[in-house]
Amino acid sequence: MHPLVNIGIRAARRAGSQILRGLNRLESLEVTAKGRNDYVSEVDRGAEAEIIEIIRKAYPGHGILAEESGATPGSQDEFVWIIDPLDGTTNYLHGFPQFCVSIGVQHRGRMEHAIIYDPMRQELFTASRGGGAQLDDKRIRVSKSRGLEGALISTGIPFRANTKWLDPYLQMMKAVALNTAGIRRPGSAALDLAWLAAGRTDAYWELGLSPWDTAAGWLLVTEAGGRVGTLTGADYELGHDIVAGSPKTYEALLALLAPHLPDDLR
Ligand code: IPD
Ligand code: CA
Ligand code: CA
Repeated sequence: MHPLVNIGIRAARRAGSQILRGLNRLESLEVTAKGRNDYVSEVDRGAEAEIIEIIRKAYPGHGILAEESGATPGSQDEFVWIIDPLDGTTNYLHGFPQFCVSIGVQHRGRMEHAIIYDPMRQELFTASRGGGAQLDDKRIRVSKSRGLEGALISTGIPFRANTKWLDPYLQMMKAVALNTAGIRRPGSAALDLAWLAAGRTDAYWELGLSPWDTAAGWLLVTEAGGRVGTLTGADYELGHDIVAGSPKTYEALLALLAPHLPDDLR
């Protein structure tokens, strides 16, 4: 395993322990509103601080982009760690057991390593560019699905500021509901991508994401043999809108969504 991945795993597992400890005292957690229906807890902040401390100790010169504390350029800025300490905070605060720690490492602007850790199931997803994707050290691949027929699709329903896309999104959802085996909205974008990489779903789409939601998951999916792009089918760029899937289902989903793209995303 690459040394950077080992450090990422150590950080993700530590954060995971902190997240699980917090779950036993959800009622007494300090929670503040970042905006309407947008909450951050002391666990998000504490887990992020622990991850950053472990990375800084091992690689003091690396840059960091983390959800709660923002960007900290490093002196050796060609490496950047992109961190979502708790992806699925809304789930977490309700005790709905679908959330994870997501850590991606970029080198000169290219995603190189990915670590996603699900502390509830103790599942560890890892990938390094060119080295395939793994779940608990076993190689994973996207499903063999060859189109929309029979496919299981995950998604995120726009909320907060993203509700500006709700109408076109609902048209997309209708098209997907009419043409596939079903839609799931699990509530953690990083796990949506990890589960797609593991073949548990066949494709995924969402609008209005942030870089830390998809940094690690994007590499996991491509290393598992899947495809990732924007809603217009362009090369994927971190954050924004995303479509991902096993190759044939990815193409079919893109074509199905295309007529319903919001004007500002065309
Ligand atoms: C959220 C989750 C959710 C997605 C949201 C994200 P957070 O991340 O990934 O599935 O629909 O767009 O913001 O805020 O829980 O880290
Ligand atoms: Ca997130
Ligand atoms: Ca988060």
